[in-house]
Amino acid sequence: MNEFNTIIPSGYNNIVVLTGAGISAESGIKTFRASDGLWEQHRIEDVATPEGFAANPQQVYRFYNQRRQHLLGHQIKPNAAHIALAEFERSFKGHFLLVTQNIDNLHERAGSQNVLHMHGELLKSRCIQSGQLLETIRDIDDQSRCQCCNPAKGIRPHIVWFGEMPLFMQQIEQALSQADLFVSIGTSGNVYPAAGFAAQAGLFGATTLELNLDTSANQSVFDYSVQGRATELVPQFFNPHTFTEQKG
Ligand code: APR
Repeated sequence: MNEFNTIIPSGYNNIVVLTGAGISAESGIKTFRASDGLWEQHRIEDVATPEGFAANPQQVYRFYNQRRQHLLGHQIKPNAAHIALAEFERSFKGHFLLVTQNIDNLHERAGSQNVLHMHGELLKSRCIQSGQLLETIRDIDDQSRCQCCNPAKGIRPHIVWFGEMPLFMQQIEQALSQADLFVSIGTSGNVYPAAGFAAQAGLFGATTLELNLDTSANQSVFDYSVQGRATELVPQFFNPHTFTEQKG
């Protein structure tokens, strides 16, 4: 038994989890809106909009090249929260969907299977002409070319910038409509549509829980909100043994 047993009813079959930068913070990846976060050091308009890319592509390539190099550094590893979600998914008998706003690959490295990267992926680029994706572990710039067109065309980071449509929205909305439990982890609730998922799932009848370090912008829409570090809260809540007992 743990504290979550007292606040969360048991017996879920359809779980949707949304993660944000906070789940990767303890792996050494900076969040966006903290006082030392990425958006304190870089203007969103410059590095995370189609207009910024059009105005100064080299600056945008450099920004994501730096993020990619950092992610691939040997010191960056999945933490206890990523691992707990992956272990839970393996043991859970119902439907489990992990939607992440994160562009890192730490969920996959921890072993998560059913993951949707709604804001894109740092280790992929895409052809500006065809949209085809390329695995990318090295730096790219305006001289980099696709492998799908003839003549080869330029490529851009496979990142959803502000003003662009997030990925997999149909799948996500369908999962939210069927969810009986929605859990948001490590996101400040500032960026839509992700910030609207809790209210959406709640309208369809899901229990909604937030696990976050600070008070989020949309805290009031959750049935339950627990504050703390992801590496402590997530393994406690997504404990397959506790869940088996609850469901039994
Ligand atoms: N454990 C749990 N939560 C944490 C931790 C931690 N160790 N560290 C930080 N947090 C919380 C913070 O309290 C904050 O509320 O994670 C949240 C991170 O918020 P943001 O920096 O705004 O990141 P996120 O919500 O993922 O941003 C959403 O905005 O800039 C865009 O596309 C980008 O996907 C990103 C989107």
